[in-house]
Amino acid sequence: MRTLVHLSDIHFGRVDATIIEPLVALIAELKPDVVTISGDLTQRARSEQFQEARAFLDRLPNPQIVVPGNHDVPLYNVFARFFQPLDKYRRFITDDLEPFYADEEIAILGVNTARSLTFKGGRVNEEQVALMREKLCPLGRDVVKIIVTHHPFDLPEGFDDDELVGRAKMAMKTLADCGADVFLSGHLHVSHTGHTAKRYKIGDHSALVVQAGTATSTRGRGEANSFNVIRVDYPNIHVERFVWQPAQSVFISNQIEKFQQVSNGWTRVADDNLMNQ
Ligand SMILES: [Fe+2]
Ligand SMILES: [Fe+2]
Repeated sequence: MRTLVHLSDIHFGRVDATIIEPLVALIAELKPDVVTISGDLTQRARSEQFQEARAFLDRLPNPQIVVPGNHDVPLYNVFARFFQPLDKYRRFITDDLEPFYADEEIAILGVNTARSLTFKGGRVNEEQVALMREKLCPLGRDVVKIIVTHHPFDLPEGFDDDELVGRAKMAMKTLADCGADVFLSGHLHVSHTGHTAKRYKIGDHSALVVQAGTATSTRGRGEANSFNVIRVDYPNIHVERFVWQPAQSVFISNQIEKFQQVSNGWTRVADDNLMNQ
């Protein structure tokens, strides 16, 4: 079994500082095999915000698969935005924009979807899809293949399609052929799980789409701060959501969604609603 912590949208420069210590302590307790962070480490891509993000990452367990988000590209400095869009991210966070981790149970590929030309939107390009194919296609079916992007491949109800990662359809064809199992993303500041089969309809391929809310930002789109813990024990995956309780200053586990791979992809088995017990 492998345990992943999935954080997103940390947004240093706009964090609720009371969350940091309990979050770091809880993640240490969870003893994850891998920590994944699906982008927006800063609020405005400023050096001091990246320094704070770096210090935070240094306190989390390794290995870490981290990708940038649209907020990690400078917004107002036009020169930096177009000519050195991820300069500070590379300097403070990591120079590796397509980080990869694999062992005998899981493979995780981070893909950079942040772009200079769009303020919020993101996209994948053909070279990135080729890289996904190269890294993931040769792996056996029982290695659970996970892709981490900032911009999502699927959306909860009520969101506009322009929030989706650009060229998702093109990418999904290849990824379905390679048997991609799970997509982790952020950007919306709303947590959600879904299936690619609903939107993409490619043969009998159905991957899981797991969206993390914002772990620490004060801009939660009406949702409390949260993060996910994903336990992979092929052919089972459990997605547990931890939600911040400001009155007690703790994250509590409020839901475990259970999925299993059957002949037509990943399907929901049952949910444990921990809040109602
Ligand atoms: Fe964000
Ligand atoms: Fe974002």
